[in-house]
Amino acid sequence: MEEKIIDENRQGEFLMIDGESNLKGRKLLLESYGCQMNFSDSEIVASILSEAGFSTTRDPEEADLILLNTCAIRDNAEQRVRGRLDYFRSIKKRKPEMVVGVLGCMAERLREKLLEEEKLVDLVVGPDAYRDLPNLIDQVDTGQKAVNVLLSREETYAEITPVRLNSNGITAFISIMRGCDNMCSFCVVPFTRGRERSRDPQTIVQEAKSLFDQGYREVTLLGQNVDSYKWNITNKGEILDPSKPTTNFAQLMEMVAKIHPDLRIRFSTSHPKDMTDDVLHVMAAYDNICKYIHLPVQSGSSEVLKRMNRGYSREWYLQRIEAIKRIMPDAAISTDIITGFCGETEEQHLETLSLMKEVEYDLAYMFKYSERPKTLAERKYEDDIPEEVKGRRLKEVIDVQMECSAKRTKTYVGQVHRVLVEGTSKKSDQHYQGRTTQNVVAIFPKGDAKPGDYVDVLVNSCTAVTLLGELVAVYPRIVSTEN
Ligand code: 5AD
Ligand code: SF4
Repeated sequence: MEEKIIDENRQGEFLMIDGESNLKGRKLLLESYGCQMNFSDSEIVASILSEAGFSTTRDPEEADLILLNTCAIRDNAEQRVRGRLDYFRSIKKRKPEMVVGVLGCMAERLREKLLEEEKLVDLVVGPDAYRDLPNLIDQVDTGQKAVNVLLSREETYAEITPVRLNSNGITAFISIMRGCDNMCSFCVVPFTRGRERSRDPQTIVQEAKSLFDQGYREVTLLGQNVDSYKWNITNKGEILDPSKPTTNFAQLMEMVAKIHPDLRIRFSTSHPKDMTDDVLHVMAAYDNICKYIHLPVQSGSSEVLKRMNRGYSREWYLQRIEAIKRIMPDAAISTDIITGFCGETEEQHLETLSLMKEVEYDLAYMFKYSERPKTLAERKYEDDIPEEVKGRRLKEVIDVQMECSAKRTKTYVGQVHRVLVEGTSKKSDQHYQGRTTQNVVAIFPKGDAKPGDYVDVLVNSCTAVTLLGELVAVYPRIVSTEN
């Protein structure tokens, strides 16, 4: 007999099939680390396991199954997970029947080794093997350890409806592609997430439509390199099925933008070598596509970029920035920067600082280089920049960025900005917070607005990265009642 149950935390619907699953009624604690893609994957995992009868909990004492969806991008990301496992070890001593699993990039990187290194771990599952989770958990129940780290060339979890975790009911991620074929020399992602593959555009549009109907007002299209999204076409440009249309990223974004003018679209991440003017023109043409681009540069030196195998030079990157500013003068641009990559000279570091000053990024994510096993850089170059030099360069990069961010934020004071209300401000329950199209957080008194409404905010003042303002207009959200 099938019974439809809505769990207490309203974290989604799941099916319980009476008497068929011994996973029924068990509690799952699922923690996520790393990039947005990982958080999005956790929503797929939650969907697969709720179908198998699990409900979610935030309390480790109550959990029958603890899953950590992990990141491997820098050594400190892995250390954080190890620290967390130490904490769960103390709980498992008291509750030996509790199952502990490691998912995601660290699982894929370390595989069986993780079982030897962390004795409490029962389950190791890579990013393409989540459909196998119920079987693997059954296997653990019989007293064995279970590992599935097979990478796939096809898996996109296309038809799985994610269970929205920690959702505000207004903004959501939609995964549009998986994996990465770029082989940047510093990066572990091609090894942990496998080959690039795109998801059927119809399923993406369907997911976005369904979110809009449920009241969501913003979707972020996710992929390691969204600009190389392609459907019904090979990497070499051959059409697979001539009777069907092909879809590239610009076309996909337009399809999603057309769902409804009140549905905002964001996306991440773009690769400078693949970002086309077509994408920029589609962004400019639709008000509901947010005017914000994350375009990781990594370094301002062409020599370093060559060693990083990024596929572009400083000049080429600056031309892409020029195109963004020409086609969308009001767009915000953010970036990623790595300091102290193999062989980076002081002059090359200064080139990064000068590029940052030239572009004047709105926001930047900045990191010290962390050598990752198996990568091209690990095999080919020496990690020869001393830790303290990496750290000093990182501080210089952060100082330049803080100045640029503060300068940019100040330009918004005195202007009226359209903001999507996301919820109560973390600092004051009298205030709401939301973001402008440029992805800047705005805080304002609640007035008559509600989460999910669009509002116009007159910006009166700002901190380094946040706008403070007052409401000048409210455009209430109308949620369809037909569904
Ligand atoms: N060390 C430091 N930073 C890295 N990133 C990726 N790999 C490494 C590494 N080995 C950074 C890049 C990337 C972001 C997601 O993480 O800047 O764009
Ligand atoms: Fe971390 Fe990269 Fe894996 Fe995301 S894809 S979780 S950033 S290693």
